[in-house]
Amino acid sequence: MTIGIDKIGFATSQYVLKLQDLATARGVDPDKFNKGLLLEEISIAPLTEDIVTLAASAGNSILTEEEKQEIDMVIVATESGIDQSKAAAVFVHGLLGIQPFARSFEIKEACYGATAALHYAKLHVENSPKSKVLVLASDIAKYGINAPGEPTQGSGSIAMLITQNPRILSFNDDNVAQTRNINDFWRPNYSTTPFVNGVYSTQQYLDCLETNWEEYKKRYNWTLDDFVAVCFHLPYPKLALKGFRKILDKSLSQEKQELLQQHFDASIIYSNRVGNIYTGSLFLGLLSLLENADTLKAGDKIALYSYGSGAVSEFFSVQLVEGYEQYLDKERAQVLDRRKPLTVEEYEKVFYEEANLNPSGSTQFTGYEDQEYALIEIVEHHRYYSKVEK
Ligand code: CAA
Repeated sequence: MTIGIDKIGFATSQYVLKLQDLATARGVDPDKFNKGLLLEEISIAPLTEDIVTLAASAGNSILTEEEKQEIDMVIVATESGIDQSKAAAVFVHGLLGIQPFARSFEIKEACYGATAALHYAKLHVENSPKSKVLVLASDIAKYGINAPGEPTQGSGSIAMLITQNPRILSFNDDNVAQTRNINDFWRPNYSTTPFVNGVYSTQQYLDCLETNWEEYKKRYNWTLDDFVAVCFHLPYPKLALKGFRKILDKSLSQEKQELLQQHFDASIIYSNRVGNIYTGSLFLGLLSLLENADTLKAGDKIALYSYGSGAVSEFFSVQLVEGYEQYLDKERAQVLDRRKPLTVEEYEKVFYEEANLNPSGSTQFTGYEDQEYALIEIVEHHRYYSKVEK
């Protein structure tokens, strides 16, 4: 049975911060962000936009009413959860009007979570071929004002519908995962921002890539020549470029090396304007490749490298299905163009904003008119979301 990604969509928050402005405010050469990290802009989310509203928007952008009645599992992968107990997937299930007899739950392992969710979704469809699973990778990356990771923040959600006979990409059943108990990036329950051993985290990202790739080649007997592209987890595109160069086989023909480079460049176009969306960022890279490369064709194999701090990594691949281009949005950059720019001062205000709860644990929010879905109020510690009427 062929199982894979039947549809893929994306949503990001309504504000954007230009890194040129951030560099000026922080007294840093703008080239450090643009050339050193390969980032131009980052998406910023206010309090009324969170992993639930972003996931609902991403899901709604790809689903028909019929599909909402067919989905029997909703998984939200995230490392910026809004509740220690209740899964974001339960809120999203309600907002999207998915039929009631579905399993909804959250999954976590830093930026790796969505890869685990895809694997679980695939096993579910294998067992129950008529099932459709909605996988949502939703995160808001907040490192802190003036933190080294500040220019790599971002927010967004990727939605993927996993089915049999998928219309975009099929899974190749060739996963190689690896676990290392390390402290490169983590966020204890009592902290709103992560603790980061920045340089160490980049070394681990690259070392896990190399070791996963060596093991993958041994197990599956495939080389880079079997792929037209490699997509990477994108904490910031420059790190992925280092990873790409690390595994690029110089014995490949010049033409093949150029094709892989061209496709790498296509895969970082969206992240360059969105920043890190943690668990969705690998799939934002995949979406960027599919929507911006013009030399892909059905049957092409694409390799994917997933990395979640802590750390779990995985190398696996997918294959393009005939007619895949009909299910993409070549005008997606317009979504990014529509975001409202913030000054650094406004961004800092949004960064520090907290729900101002009264003694009974309630508050109402305003200013969410331009959102598709919004957190509209908290009543006695219950979060209430709504689709915003236009
Ligand atoms: N012009 C051009 N380039 C410049 C420059 C200038 N004026 N100034 C600096 N640069 C270059 C540097 O040479 C460097 O490039 P190389 O890596 O190729 O040498 C790049 O800009 C970054 O400069 P620094 O290394 O000095 O930057 P930094 O120390 O301030 O911050 C970082 C780098 C530590 C990675 C920081 O961004 C960070 O902490 N990020 C968060 C952690 C992270 O993303 N880790 C990735 C792996 S973990 C993971 O993948 C999970 C996840 O999503 C978080």
